[in-house]
Amino acid sequence: SAAEKGGHEYFMLKEIEEQPAALENTLRGHFTDGRIVLDEQRIAEQDLREVDKVFVVACGSAYHSGLVAKYAIEHWTRLPVEVELASEFRYRDPVLDRDTLVVAVSQSGETADTLEAVRHARGQRARVLAVCNTNGAQIPRESDAVLYTHAGPEIGVASTKAFLAQIAANFLVGLALAQARGTKYPDEVAREFHELCAMPDAVRKVLGTNDQVRALGREVADAKAVLFLGRHVGYPVALEGALKLKELAYMHAEGFAAGELKHGPIALIEPGLPVVVVMPSPKGRAVLHSKLVSNISEIQARGARTIVIAEEGDETVLPFADTLITVPAVPTLLQPLVSTVPLQVLAAEIARARGYDVDKPRNLAKSVTVE
Ligand code: G6P
Repeated sequence: SAAEKGGHEYFMLKEIEEQPAALENTLRGHFTDGRIVLDEQRIAEQDLREVDKVFVVACGSAYHSGLVAKYAIEHWTRLPVEVELASEFRYRDPVLDRDTLVVAVSQSGETADTLEAVRHARGQRARVLAVCNTNGAQIPRESDAVLYTHAGPEIGVASTKAFLAQIAANFLVGLALAQARGTKYPDEVAREFHELCAMPDAVRKVLGTNDQVRALGREVADAKAVLFLGRHVGYPVALEGALKLKELAYMHAEGFAAGELKHGPIALIEPGLPVVVVMPSPKGRAVLHSKLVSNISEIQARGARTIVIAEEGDETVLPFADTLITVPAVPTLLQPLVSTVPLQVLAAEIARARGYDVDKPRNLAKSVTVE
């Protein structure tokens, strides 16, 4: 009913707006007495300290949350982090031992491939930490440690608030590891946590662009395809933006690392093709920023319709942006928490304009419990 949807036409739109609360609830209670705490911890502190390699395994959007986390966890812990699709991980004979930490990320906690990856990892004596949105689901039950995301039940098949909550939870995992290993001083851990706590308000601010993004969605709803480009943490955001559009609007959509533009994607550029570019902060990553500005100008010169997601106040992109969507300035590693939001809204609106059911896209299930 309309009431259940909080006055929205679709659950997904309601869930997009619940993202600030999903982040708040996920962060709450995880920093006490100056330390990051998990929900269930059956790994001895000493064993956590001895972890020498991290794998993140997941499917779909959860996998993209892992790709985002890799940047933060490697930076904070100096541990190598590999992010793998659960369905590939377990058939690949990955190198695992008791000093490997496998982080299994799953909204439902029931995804068959992720569950089997957990079982495989534990069979090789690796430690498994679950990041899950469903209390007592199978994946957390079979893991050595658990951090719950508190996004609340997600009805829309395409993940939104659970995805943002997964990113935040994965960051907490990174901070917990950094704290155990001593690669971050306690005051640095506190500062990072504090920065995370500012994100719900930043997301609230981005939601203010929803009407602009919806209007854009209606304008580009007839496109044959949409490309998404990003670099650094903007790359997984581009992948997530493309996934949302495929899932909901049944459009050909692809996300690329912008540095690969000249290695293939540029051949796809044609007049009128919408290309979404996720810009890094001009202050945080100046070198990457200038490379992306030159990418947008090349794309625009070939007649594409450029849709640029950039930090507010970033004037350098103005000449190249056919549509500019601004997001608040936040620390670089946290940028996916704001830049993903307009891409969710865009996909939902394009799907709606094309007459599709935003909550129940064809052929897809909320949780894939068969391989
Ligand atoms: C399905 C859903 C996606 C989700 C993926 C992984 O494909 O449609 O939204 O990201 O499964 O689900 P999980 O429950 O393991 O996070």
